[in-house]
Amino acid sequence: MAKQYDVAVIGAGAAGMMCAAVAAARGKRVVLIDHAEKLAEKIRISGGGRCNFTNINTTPANFLSQNPHFCKSALSRYTPQDFLALVKKHRISHQEKHRGQLFCKDSAEQIIAMLKAECADGDVTWRMPCKIEALEQFDDNFLISTDTGDIEATSVVIATGGLSIPKIGATDFGYRIAEQFGLKIVETRPGLVPLTFDGPSWEAFAPLAGIALEVEVETGTGKGKGAVKGKFREDLLFTHRGLSGPAILQISSYWQPGTPIVVNLLPELDVADELISTKGTQKKQLGNVVGQWLPARLVERLLQAQGLAPDARIADLPDAKLRALGDAINRWAIVPTGSEGYRKAEVTLGGVDTRELSQQSMMVTKVPGLYFIGEAIDVTGWLGGYNFQWAWASGFAAGSSVA
Ligand code: FDA
Repeated sequence: MAKQYDVAVIGAGAAGMMCAAVAAARGKRVVLIDHAEKLAEKIRISGGGRCNFTNINTTPANFLSQNPHFCKSALSRYTPQDFLALVKKHRISHQEKHRGQLFCKDSAEQIIAMLKAECADGDVTWRMPCKIEALEQFDDNFLISTDTGDIEATSVVIATGGLSIPKIGATDFGYRIAEQFGLKIVETRPGLVPLTFDGPSWEAFAPLAGIALEVEVETGTGKGKGAVKGKFREDLLFTHRGLSGPAILQISSYWQPGTPIVVNLLPELDVADELISTKGTQKKQLGNVVGQWLPARLVERLLQAQGLAPDARIADLPDAKLRALGDAINRWAIVPTGSEGYRKAEVTLGGVDTRELSQQSMMVTKVPGLYFIGEAIDVTGWLGGYNFQWAWASGFAAGSSVA
């Protein structure tokens, strides 16, 4: 005999636990199913172990989606302040870091414990670890066949996340279920991920590994309404294989293979203007002047690439040479070969097409009773707590309306 529930939530990560707790608080009989041995590993490792659980400045503009208006409703009905109120209710000490990012002061484990406690308050039943063999719809119900017995539920919420970090349990389950029910999927790709360059093109930069500096980075394709453009001012980190750091993770979500990213290594200064305007009065050597602004190893590499000697006197150099150097610093255009992939990506871009879902409830419009929430759907946040805010908000939307 299959066990009967009102709601079965598949995936006990951020979105799934929020949804289960909210539905159970409304008196629904909820079962929460996950295949992992360990609960919510992604929350545990997030924010360097301190979970950047939201961003107080969240707006719909902080998300990428082919349907950018979709996230507005859920985000406005469950705000960062709502989640913060929950965090305060559970007496979790927290702190604001960079640009509205809220972190636990002690440990991400506290967020997991908080969500577990919220589920316990509503008597949510756990099935974990539990392998799902099949999901079928019959009459007005769903039958979930699992290796720990069958489950019958009026509603099923898919909260199995994206493809990032397979070694801690990410699977394509959500996309397979979407396909089974004939839903469109926006092509998936790794987001918030370091960018890589092939061996020969990176050889000259590899020795710069470890250098970090604040830059402005941009990329973009398309025109008008279809344009996808990103611009961020954050730290960049040179690595042995390419570029990383918050600036690169952010821009990676906007980057399209084959197109360049443009890095301004000195956003505060128009380098060519500065060098040319001081030319007449300067007897200084080029390396010393540029060395005041940028790390020595980077300066050495930049001058070498322009065929300029560090001890050349600025006054002796033609304007064209100084302009070329200025361009190399203020508009460094490079085409990444690829990215570090899902192994290192913090999120998965794309996913279940939001045009298949109700923006109020996250229910599939053509399959009443079936819901998708969290990272499994085509809504992806910037770095900085936005992805968890989407998990909470979409989980709340489904949990509040699930039958
Ligand atoms: P999530 O991945 O959390 O949960 C999915 C659940 O489904 C998992 O428990 C998984 O085991 C389960 N599952 C998968 N397949 C299944 C199957 N076939 N059967 C049963 N269960 C299955 N975001 C942020 O806002 N602030 C931050 O600080 C960070 N930091 C961060 C660090 C790192 C290293 C990563 C990889 C990611 C982040 N993120 C983040 C992103 C954030 O973790 C992510 O967006 C959310 O966890 C997504 O929540 P979901 O509930 O949708 O998926």
